[in-house]
Amino acid sequence: MTQQRLSAATWKAEIVKMRGFGSPLPAADEASVIAYLAAHLGPSVPQPPPNTVVTAPPVTYTNAETSASASTASASTTNANGAQLYAQNCAACHGAAGAGVPGAFPPLVHDPVVTAANPAAHISAVLKGVHGKAIGGKSYSSPMPPFAQLSDNDIAAIINHERTSWGNHAPTVTPAQIKSAR
Ligand code: HEC
Repeated sequence: MTQQRLSAATWKAEIVKMRGFGSPLPAADEASVIAYLAAHLGPSVPQPPPNTVVTAPPVTYTNAETSASASTASASTTNANGAQLYAQNCAACHGAAGAGVPGAFPPLVHDPVVTAANPAAHISAVLKGVHGKAIGGKSYSSPMPPFAQLSDNDIAAIINHERTSWGNHAPTVTPAQIKSAR
């Protein structure tokens, strides 16, 4: 219900009407009652415009710091994983920089399988191992052990590390390619 806003003159007219209905307002109080009504229920009282809905401005929660550090972390994790997994699983034979050990373990730097555009032989070597293969005209008496126990992600990271390190510039692989080669 909306309270009507009336001027002092209108309130006076209202009071005159109420008198007519038998209102007991004493004439001595009439002026102060009109002043009171006009002051508190008069047209000069500032009112919010009708249908004004006060809404808070939309708040967008941004956390630039978190998202920035998260993307940095994931990017560096991918690179670090390949290098780290290579160091843990392969470097003992092929060397930290892929140079191999002459006569014992083949180098992976500029190796035809590691630098081939088609990664099938590279993936197969890591998943299934290599034995009795002459590489660059050299035979190796010890076999390359299979690494099928590593996850698709880990093998892809290792292969990509070999394909993009030490001067190698070969196309990279996805974990899905490892999965389908198993
Ligand atoms: C125990 C030693 C050893 C470890 C560990 C090892 N390799 Fe080998 N790798 C070899 C030997 C030996 C050969 C060559 C085998 C042959 O020609 O018969 C080889 C061959 C390869 C080849 C084939 C190269 C070609 O031209 O055919 C690739 C690729 C390769 N290794 C990658 C890896 C990766 C990746 C890892 C780690 C996940 C790894 N190796 C761990 C010893 C090892």
